[in-house]
Amino acid sequence: MSAQTKTATSPVASKSIRAAAVNTPRIPGFLQRRIDHYYEHRMAVDWGGRHIMAGSVPKDDDIVLMSNDYLALAQHPEILQAQIDSIQASGNGMLMSAIFLNGPNEHASFESRMADFMQCDTTIVSQSGWNANTGLMQTLADPETPVYIDFFAHVSLWEGVHAAHATAYPFRHNEPGHLARMIAKHGPGVIVVDSVYSTNGSVAPLAEIAEMAERTGCVFVVDESHSLGTHGPHGEGLVVELGLTDKVHFRTASLAKAFAARGGIIAAHADFASYFRSTSSPAIFSSTLLPHELAGMSKTLDVIRAADDRRSRLHEIAAHMRHEIDELGYNLRESEAQIIALEAGSELEVMHLRDVLEANGLFGAIFCPPATPRNRALVRLSLHSAMTDDQVERTLRILAETREESGMWTWGSTRKKRGNQLSQAA
Ligand SMILES: Cc1ncc(COP(=O)(O)O)c(C=O)c1O
Repeated sequence: MSAQTKTATSPVASKSIRAAAVNTPRIPGFLQRRIDHYYEHRMAVDWGGRHIMAGSVPKDDDIVLMSNDYLALAQHPEILQAQIDSIQASGNGMLMSAIFLNGPNEHASFESRMADFMQCDTTIVSQSGWNANTGLMQTLADPETPVYIDFFAHVSLWEGVHAAHATAYPFRHNEPGHLARMIAKHGPGVIVVDSVYSTNGSVAPLAEIAEMAERTGCVFVVDESHSLGTHGPHGEGLVVELGLTDKVHFRTASLAKAFAARGGIIAAHADFASYFRSTSSPAIFSSTLLPHELAGMSKTLDVIRAADDRRSRLHEIAAHMRHEIDELGYNLRESEAQIIALEAGSELEVMHLRDVLEANGLFGAIFCPPATPRNRALVRLSLHSAMTDDQVERTLRILAETREESGMWTWGSTRKKRGNQLSQAA
């Protein structure tokens, strides 16, 4: 059964999934209309009557590729023990903004260890990758600053541009030629990219853009969320791997990926931290991480530095799986990393794909608008270094055996790939 024929439900049906308010005041019409629109259009029509994220729960033996714990550190005993020791020694520490911290503390010592690791003057820890990005962009740009941002850059970077009241000049994904034309037109500003893009695993042409930033007098910002820990000689990230530390002004990263924690980091210029701490709203107005979170991340840094075996296993699995999944006919577009996107197209098609994969024991994460362009919804598989050979082969088998049922041959992305192959062959 195709995704389209399977699910269309009337707006009335969606009423049954709405909860009745009991103890809250009536919502005024201007807001009620927005909420109704969500239920009657997004939920009832676009998603066929259920929430798009409502999949099933994995069973013990199922393969779960939803988490961004690329080096499989979330259960690492030494990291967990470091957190337990810290909780026992310091409890939840001081509940206040990090700007009030003085003297030796976990925060400052982790920042200085991370600066050494990332080969930069200084790092600033924040409560999340989201806060690192919004806080950084807010301090770099103002209404007069053009911000050149890759169309696929993470939404937190866009949010920071909005917070700065700056003008965004988006450039086509991974197209430095388009970026160059925009800079020629609007003048020097801030260039913003992800090193590895979170939706499809494509890698930014960092060397080319760094050279352009230098030549045109732009500030260059790279979000390394999906390469810190996984790339670089000892996990330092792609900027270090490519020898670009003297050309990239700011690097940011979520520590909720390979670091398997909750936090964010900014690698910056020596005298930037002081300015940032008195200018960035998330740094000033949101409270600091807890001591045990920092103690855990500090231990994770030791583990990541020594995790060459995990990194090589991850890259070996990723290269093998990308090759095999491409051979099966899926259009992986430009994936070059541990992120593999199965681009089904519409939201109904992607829900159908998710359901088919889950029924066969494979769990990925749905990405849909606003995380993807319209009709480019996808299931993302985040690979990790602890996958066994058996899990790798089972994943490939499931992807092979479910192609008909999931409708893979009819997806827009598949047709596009075949069209490209035919035109190359002609
Ligand atoms: C590229 C990128 N930057 C930033 C973030 C935000 O990170 P966090 O989840 O730590 O707020 C994410 C997480 O989805 C991401 O993928």
